[in-house]
Order: sequence, then C-alpha cells, then structure tokens
Amino acid sequence: MTSARDPLLTLEHITVRLDGTTDTALVDGVSLELERGSCLGLVGESGSGKSLLLRSIVGLIPRPLRLSGQLHWSRARDGLQQPLSPRAARGRDISMIFQEPMRSLNPMRRISWTLAEPLRMHAGLRGAALRERIISLLEDVGISDPHRIARSYPHELSGGLQQRVMIAAALSTDPALLLCDEPTTALDVTTQATILDLLRSLQSTRGLSLVFVSHDLAVVSEVADTVAVMYSGRIVEVGPTAAVIQDPQHSYTKMLVDSVPARLKPSHTDAHERTRA
Ligand SMILES: Nc1ncnc2c1ncn2[C@@H]1O[C@H](COP(=O)(O)OP(=O)(O)O)[C@@H](O)[C@H]1O
Ligand SMILES: [Mg+2]
Repeated sequence: MTSARDPLLTLEHITVRLDGTTDTALVDGVSLELERGSCLGLVGESGSGKSLLLRSIVGLIPRPLRLSGQLHWSRARDGLQQPLSPRAARGRDISMIFQEPMRSLNPMRRISWTLAEPLRMHAGLRGAALRERIISLLEDVGISDPHRIARSYPHELSGGLQQRVMIAAALSTDPALLLCDEPTTALDVTTQATILDLLRSLQSTRGLSLVFVSHDLAVVSEVADTVAVMYSGRIVEVGPTAAVIQDPQHSYTKMLVDSVPARLKPSHTDAHERTRA
C-alpha cells in the first residue's frame, strides 16, 4: 500500500576533515537515510571513509579530525518521532561491532564478565537475574552451549564464536540500531556466512536496523536491503541492492560488480542451511 518513509536515522551533509585545514574531506558531504528495520550496506575500497562515516553516527571521531553536518535520530522503542542526538543515544539505542572481536574482548576476563558489564550498567541487573540474562543473550546469538562459553576466556573461542559474543554484548542494551564495521572480514568464508545469517535473523526477529560496512560487495549484497557505494569520501551511488547490482550507474560501482560476478548471486537457501560456526 502506501510506502510511507519511516527513517530511523537521517544523515545530512556529514563531513569529516582534518581540523583547521581545507584539505580534501575524508568524508565529504554524505547524506543518507536509514529505514527503520532495514539493513543499509556501505561498500567501498579501503580508505574510502566507511569507518569514519560509521563513527560519525556515534560521535566517535578522534582528534585532530572534525565532524560537521547533521544527524537526525528518531527513537524506535517508543515509536515517538522524538529527535534525540545520536550522541545521547550512543550506548543505549545504538551499538557497534568491529572487524576484530579480540580487540574488544578483555583477554584476562571470562566471557560472562564482558557481558555482565553493560547489563549491570544499562539494565541494573545483579545476581541470578544477571546470570540468566547472560545465558539468554548467548542463546540469542545461536550459541548452543552458553554455560560453557560464559565460563570461557576469549582465546579459547574460535573467531566465529568471538564475533557471536561481541554481537551478544552489542545486543545487551537492546539497541534499535547495530553498526557493523567489517564484522566478517577476519573470518573464513563458511563462518562469515553463518554470521551473516545471524545478523539477518536478528534483523527480522528483533526488528533491528543495521548499517553493514564492508569492502566486499558480494558480502554486502547478502545482507543489505539498500546499498550505498562510497568512493573517496563520497556516496557515489545508492539504491535497492538488487537494482544496484543489476544496473550499476557509477563507473566505480560497475567495476565492483564486474570484479565479483560469480559470487554476486547469493543463494540464501544454501546460506541458511549452513550450520553454526
Ligand atoms: N584519525 C585519523 N587521522 C587522520 N586521518 C585519518 C584518521 N582516521 C582515518 N583517516 C583517513 O581517513 C580516510 C578514511 O579512513 P577510513 O574511514 O578508516 O576508511 P575505510 O574504513 O573505508 O577503510 C583514510 O584516508 C584514512 O587514512
Ligand atoms: Mg574501515
């Protein structure tokens, strides 16, 4: 019927440049909209500004870089179109996962410790309620033996399991938006497919919105409803994933599509039948 737009997040002219310079911007006037409950894929070569753009959303731009532009965030949980700065939403409605889960996991602490921290802080959980919630979060990310994993140290887990734990940690605040920065790049192809499956299923079961960043268009096309192509700090093309792949407009997008022709017809059925990492 009517396809009323319902953006969760709107970016307007987001620009990141070295403070005090007029050097070419690293992120150059990016405007994008993220539909509630959908997955926006952001693809582009290394150094094109994908991570900086993602970090702009949560205000994590390190000095000496400077962020300008506007972000409009509409809260999902209560359905109110109440503007709230993404900075205020950070850590509560927006979570982020990265390429290297080991970097975010404390090597000296058991998995249960890592998961307990946000649950104490954001949900005020203690004791048995806290332990139960940790186990159910691990189950939510497809871990079949959550008690063993909770007792484990990060180095005892495979890369795929580590990334599942990071996704569990990211979900612990019950966010509306999950930002994923190359979350499968460090994983082997089979494990990568299972993590993509997990993200897709979380999107549908929890109504989670995703921004999924990768240098790999084939990977992005597995999860993204909409794809935005980034080149040299700018979005050069944006559209429904299938349309962008079938009929790329920009020369850079054409090159991306040409470079991975065989893998660009993802078989979702096959992927869903794969077993967990
Ligand atoms: N802290 C920083 N200081 C200066 N330049 C940076 C900083 N972080 C990233 N850059 C530069 O900004 C550009 C975009 O980086 P990034 O967003 O990490 O790219 P991508 O994630 O697409 O690989 C690169 O040229 C990078 O060298
Ligand atoms: Mg990056």
